[in-house]
This record gives sequence, C-alpha cells and structure tokens, in this order.
Amino acid sequence: MLHVFSKLVFSANLCVKIMRILGIESSCDETALAIVREEGGVFTVEHNLVTSQIDLHAVYGGVVPELAARQHVDAAFLLLDQIGVPRNGEGIDAIAVTYGPRLVPALRIGVELAKTLAWAWKKPIVPVNHLEGHIYSVWLGEGRRDESFPILSLLVSGKHTEIIQAKEEGVYTCLGATRDDASGEAFDKAARLLGFGYPGGPALSKCAKEGNKNAIPFPRPMRESGDFDFSFSGLKTALAVYLQTHEENRASLPDICASYEEAIVDVLAEKTFRAILETQPKTIILAWGVSANGPLRDRLAAMIMSLSEEMRPTLLFPPLRYTGDNAAMIAAAGAARFARGFTHDPLTLEADPNLSLV
Ligand code: KG4
Ligand code: ZN
Repeated sequence: MLHVFSKLVFSANLCVKIMRILGIESSCDETALAIVREEGGVFTVEHNLVTSQIDLHAVYGGVVPELAARQHVDAAFLLLDQIGVPRNGEGIDAIAVTYGPRLVPALRIGVELAKTLAWAWKKPIVPVNHLEGHIYSVWLGEGRRDESFPILSLLVSGKHTEIIQAKEEGVYTCLGATRDDASGEAFDKAARLLGFGYPGGPALSKCAKEGNKNAIPFPRPMRESGDFDFSFSGLKTALAVYLQTHEENRASLPDICASYEEAIVDVLAEKTFRAILETQPKTIILAWGVSANGPLRDRLAAMIMSLSEEMRPTLLFPPLRYTGDNAAMIAAAGAARFARGFTHDPLTLEADPNLSLV
C-alpha cells in the first residue's frame, strides 16, 4: 500500500513544473524588479525590489513622465545588479514586463530593458497588463490561483475603480467602472481640501479611525443606479460645500474624515456585493492602492460572511506590501500567461499607454 502511495506522489510531482520568472515594472513612478517562482499554482516571491520616485515628483504635485523615465533608467540598472541573476540569465525561464497602460516614456524603459535581456539571455518575453498584475498580487500572499476561478475583482487606485469579472483565467469582462474620479482620487482630493499631504488616502483614513462615521450624511453617488458604475467627483464637491458652509459649526476633523471615508466604502462595498450576487464567483479580489483601506476590507469581509456557506466566495486581498506597484505581481501574472503559452517577439514589443484588459 505504501509502495502504491509513494508512486502516486512521485508521478504527481512529475506533473508539477517549476518556473522562475523575472518581473519588470516601470509604468509610473516606481521602478521594480522581482523574481517569482511558480510551482503547482502557488507563487513564491524570491526577490522583490522597489524604488519609489515619489519625492522627486512631489514638488510638481504629480508624476512628470520624462523625469520618471530618466529616473527609471538609473534605478533599473541598480536593481538589476542587486537582484543577482547570473550574467547569462541562468535560472530564469522567462521575463515578464508591464507594457501598459500608463505613462509611455516610463513604460518604455521597462519594456526596452526586458527586450534587451530577452535578446541577450535568449529567454522568452511575456508582456503583462498592469491591471492584471494587480489582480495577481493577491496570490503572492496565499491561495492557489489555478483553483480560484471564476473570480470577481474590485480594482481601486488613484486612477482606477473597476469591477472586473474573469470566468476563466485570462478572459476579462468589465462589469462597471468610474465615470469620473477614481476612488483613490476621491480620497486624495478630500485629503488635500483637509490639509493632508499627497497621496492623502492613508492619512485621511488614519484620522478617520478616531471619528464618528455617521456624523455627516455625505451623499452615496450612484449607489442606486442599478448598474456597476461609480462616480466620485460629486462626493469631493459635497465635502468642499460642507467645508464652505460650516466654517463656524464644523464637525471635528476625525468626524469629517470618518463620514467621508464611510461614503466611499459604502458605495464600493455595496456595488461589489451586488455584483457578487449577480455573478456568483468563487473568489473575490480586492486589489491596488485603496485595497490597503481597513474599513473597506472589513466591510467586504462582513458582507461576504452574511452569505450562506454555499453562496460564499473566498475573499482575497494582497499583503499590504503588494498593494502598491511592484514587479512580483507582474512576474506572477507573467508566469500564468507563460504557462498558457503566451510569449511575444521581443523585437516587436511596444509600450501601450492605453492598453485595455477587456
Ligand atoms: O497603487 P497606487 O500607488 O496607484 C496609483 O498610483 O493610483 O495607489 C495609490 C492610491 C492613492 O490614491 C492613495 O490615496 C490610495 O491609493 N490609498 C488609500 C490607502 N492607501 C493608499 N486610500 C484609502 N485608504 C488607504 N489606507
Ligand atoms: Zn499599479
């Protein structure tokens, strides 16, 4: 009996292919390189290097693409030295790189680095959509990506707010998106009005911890719209109007922050919950910058727990260190694409600032 069992394990092991992928990310103001190992649907991050240019751009109040590109060149070579791949690329099976969307001068640095390494090392190149990378960030912590589909993802950042469905791996449908400001932008613009620095989402949320979320009845834009779209620009205007009209009798700063945060969390969580009921996914993914928000994580978790066990999807968040831009998530998404046979001719790969996931 023991003999039969060990043979089965042996033959199962034979089927598990191990891949080591070098990931490269340079779509905005973070230069990042990572090595991720994929074994039987489980990702292990071996190296994860990120340098941020946030201080460089802070004086301009936003990212300056040409400055970002120049900084990426310096940073990418330093990181490549640190990551410790042998000069002939030995031990790396493929190179995954973000090729869009976002800032084309910035994207180009990562893409050209990937093309050069692919040519010099004679390794395949796997282009990755940045949004797909953020989806795969959740499996850098736990869970098997190959057992997670169908999935429903709420992607929330300073530029994006989207509910994306993937009935099977690699096939995406957008169920809803913001019609104006992104949810992270709503946090950042409010934070600026309230005198926090940029990006202000984390500072606003920290202040909100001490406040009463029911102090001010801010609007819940498009909550009853019957679709899965969002709109956040009116919420920021409602805050501006509140501040102008309540100069004398304002609620405390923590109460304002808590009430404002609650309005964003309410709309995001309720729309996502409705999408869950409609599409019945196996896994819910909350990812990207705003996924670091504690009340949003808690609210989604509580809503999902209210479902019966048969209806209840698994909720996955990225570990906090992977909510921002990083190359480990690009390597993970690249590993999955590579496993599905997806590679690109390095000579013809171009950065695409408007790349769509659907
Ligand atoms: O991933 P990220 O750097 O991507 C973008 O460049 O968009 O996300 C940053 C966004 C900012 O809008 C920031 O305010 C928001 O995510 N953010 C948060 C929190 N942490 C980051 N918003 C609310 N609560 C947080 N804890
Ligand atoms: Zn990102």
